[in-house]
Amino acid sequence: MSYNLLKGKRGIIFGALDEHSIAWKTAEKVHEEGGTFVLTNAPIAMRMGKIKDLAEKTGSEIIPADATKVEDLENLVEKATEILGGKIDFVLHSIGMSVNVRKGNHYTDMNYDFTTKGWDVSAVSFHKTMQVLYKKDAMSEWGSIVALTYMAAQRVFPDYNDMADNKAYLESIARSFGYFFGKDKKVRVNTISQSPTPTTAGQGVKGFDGFIAYAEKMSPLGNATADECADYTLTLFSDLTKKVTLQNLYHDGGFSNMGVSQQVMEAFVEKE
Ligand SMILES: NC(=O)c1ccc[n+]([C@@H]2O[C@H](COP(=O)([O-])OP(=O)(O)OC[C@H]3O[C@@H](n4cnc5c(N)ncnc54)[C@H](O)[C@@H]3O)[C@@H](O)[C@H]2O)c1
Repeated sequence: MSYNLLKGKRGIIFGALDEHSIAWKTAEKVHEEGGTFVLTNAPIAMRMGKIKDLAEKTGSEIIPADATKVEDLENLVEKATEILGGKIDFVLHSIGMSVNVRKGNHYTDMNYDFTTKGWDVSAVSFHKTMQVLYKKDAMSEWGSIVALTYMAAQRVFPDYNDMADNKAYLESIARSFGYFFGKDKKVRVNTISQSPTPTTAGQGVKGFDGFIAYAEKMSPLGNATADECADYTLTLFSDLTKKVTLQNLYHDGGFSNMGVSQQVMEAFVEKE
């Protein structure tokens, strides 16, 4: 259903790799709601991904940028404002990657070069993106910046590995930069803490199937899907949430406030 919530709004969407990506679903829905945007991803993901199909479908242009490289981000922001014809109203940072997770290194046996790389991609890239937007004064007043995160930033999920630390750092950047963006430019900055979701990044986590099944049984509303995450993100891009900022917003079917559910308990009750 379309409400024209984003009519006339211009944005940048990071991180659409394939049709499972949360950023992909968000781009489709932003398009349905009347928003225009440029798509961006790391040059390597362009070759692997299907981003061209999404660009065609949504009438958008693609500007490659490695989100760890400030010069790429500067080029992205300059080109995006040119192509879209004005300042940016919304930005989605939907980027995450841990080299330790990819290589199967245990949390107690990290390679710190990998740790630094994953931190740069997953967390510092959010600061870099905002710093470029801030310095170039590229955001419209009452614009909205959203990054995606996971509850391992607050609670222990052992196999989430160093991504837990990266997400904690990312959420902190949202608050710290959000202060300056709010005060100086009237721009809001929030993170959405999403349920486990079957995407390329999600499935890279060891034991993901168990993870997702457990969360489903714990959450009174069940896990939130990528589609539903896109819907929620749209509300944060719209003018209906202008005074929401510096928040980490749980979009997880209620999981984050649960202790135990009947369904999970039943798995431990001995059958007579
Ligand atoms: N899938 C889940 O279970 C889940 C749960 C909560 C939060 N999240 C977060 O949602 C976001 C999107 O992930 P997803 O699940 O849609 O997976 P995804 O694999 O589809 O998206 C991750 C994206 O990050 C991009 N990326 C990696 N390195 C980059 C770089 N250097 N520069 C620019 N882009 C780069 C990838 O190309 C990819 O498009 C991530 O921040 C992820 O941590 C995912």
